[in-house]
Order: sequence, then C-alpha cells, then structure tokens
Amino acid sequence: MTLIDGKKIAKEIRFELKEKVFDLRQKYGTVPGLAAVLVGENPASQVYVRMKQRACEEVGIYSVVEKLPAETSEEDLISLIERFNSDKKINGILVQLPLPEHISENKIIETISPSKDVDGFHPVNMGNLVIGKETFYPCTPYGILELLKRYRIETKGKHVVVVGRSNIVGKPVANMLLQKKEGANAIVTVCHSAAKDLKKYTATADILIAAIGRPKFITADMVKDGVVIIDVGINRVEDKSTEKGYKLVGDVDFEEVSRKASFITPVPGGVGPMTIAMLLQNTYESFIKSLNL
Ligand code: GUN
Repeated sequence: MTLIDGKKIAKEIRFELKEKVFDLRQKYGTVPGLAAVLVGENPASQVYVRMKQRACEEVGIYSVVEKLPAETSEEDLISLIERFNSDKKINGILVQLPLPEHISENKIIETISPSKDVDGFHPVNMGNLVIGKETFYPCTPYGILELLKRYRIETKGKHVVVVGRSNIVGKPVANMLLQKKEGANAIVTVCHSAAKDLKKYTATADILIAAIGRPKFITADMVKDGVVIIDVGINRVEDKSTEKGYKLVGDVDFEEVSRKASFITPVPGGVGPMTIAMLLQNTYESFIKSLNL
C-alpha cells in the first residue's frame, strides 16, 4: 500500500510556484494577486482563509483579505467584488463559502468575473469544464487530478466511483475525469445519498473518490482489493485526549480500508493541502492569461 502524501506534493507545487513568481517579478516587475473575502465567523472558514493567506506569502503572491461582519448585506458584498473585478493588481477573487443565509451564494459567484474566478465556481467556467474547454479547475478536484498524475496512477479506462455530488467536488471531479484527455478518460459513476445499496457501486471502483462529509462512512466491506482511495472528507470528531477537544477524520475508515487499498490519501495530509496549492496555481495561471502573451 502506498500512502499518497498530499502534504509533500503540495509543498513541491508551492516551491515550483515560488520560483515562477520570482521569475515574474524579475521579468515584469509585478506578481499575481489574490483577494480573499470572508463573511462572518465560521471557525473552519477562518482557518482556511488564514491558511490561504499564509500560502500566498510563502510563494510571493500578493494577497488582500477582506473580513466582513456576518450582517454584511448582499449589495455591499457585490460592490466589493465589483471593485476587485476592476482592480488590476488582483488576478484571483475567492469568496469563502458557506455564506450567511441572507446572501445568495449563486448570485455572489456570478458577480465574480469569470477571468478572476480562481475557485472555478462561476457557471461559465463550470460550463467550459463540462464541455472540455480551457477553464479554471475548482481547486479540490484539480488537486485530486494532480495527485493521481504525480503518483502515476492510470485513469484511462478505469472505473472511477465518486461518492457525493456537490458543486465544489463531486460534480466537477466527475466531469474532469470523464474528458477524453491525458490524466482523465475514465469510466465515471457518481453516486449519492439516494442510492439504496451504495456498496453495489463502490465495490466495482478501481478508484474511489469519497466526498460525502460523513466521518468513516466508507468501510472495508464496501471496496475491492487493490482499490485507489481518494478521501476528500475533513470531519471534526470529538476527541477529549487532544488539546483542541477534536480530531480530523476522513469519509473513509482509514485503518480498515488501507489494508485493502493499493493507494490511499490520509486525513489530514492528503487532499486538503492540495486544495490551497491549486488555488495558488490558478492565481498564477490567471496572471499569465492577463498578460495576453
Ligand atoms: N468552502 C469549502 N471549500 C471551498 C473552496 O474550495 N473555496 C471556497 N471559496 N470556499 C470553500
């Protein structure tokens, strides 16, 4: 069994980006810029935004973080995004989700200029992804494809089973792996909570992508020997023996399932660190596109 070390790969990607950003500064006297917007005080979102900001600093990407109170009106948030849309120093705009209930996530996502939508959530970018045109790939799915590529895991003709149908992970990763392209070209099944017998599908997976959001949901009896496991789940479960009072576990029962797997991502240290690395990658790519070379 090979442990897929996302922490290590993410570090390599940040290192590669740091060199590329350094070259940009030498050549153009400017660097890519990212604007991150956080509305309210969701603890997990606060952690993610801080990690994104730190990662920008590490690779030399310029970043602005706007922290707004939970009561911020949809109108004010839209004005802020419009300001970033026309700000030449900003190549990527990220609005951390979830947003407070009174703000429409769809409306906010649609306000972000598709050319600065480094999360890849805008319907134009999502549409381009589905038809196989060049676009910004959403960061977590992009990170998953990058892990498969760097571990030389064949996807062509393989049966990939995605459990979960979110707009952020399930739907985009399924569509990306479906494309007739290098690093994709898979046979893809998407299943979800309405499946009466989930095991019927998961047991046929060569590659299983778990993006459900329920701790240790995938158990050993649900997979076949030699399966490749990509665990996207980050679930906080109570653990009084730790300082924080909780620990992070994935959607897969790692201990049991790792005995049957050929490759598996751990939680933490698997897919998670890749998401941030790919956000930086998208911001870099956005900058390059803006140069119109
Ligand atoms: N919330 C959970 N995942 C993400 C993500 O990838 N981007 C943003 N903006 N919010 C999220």
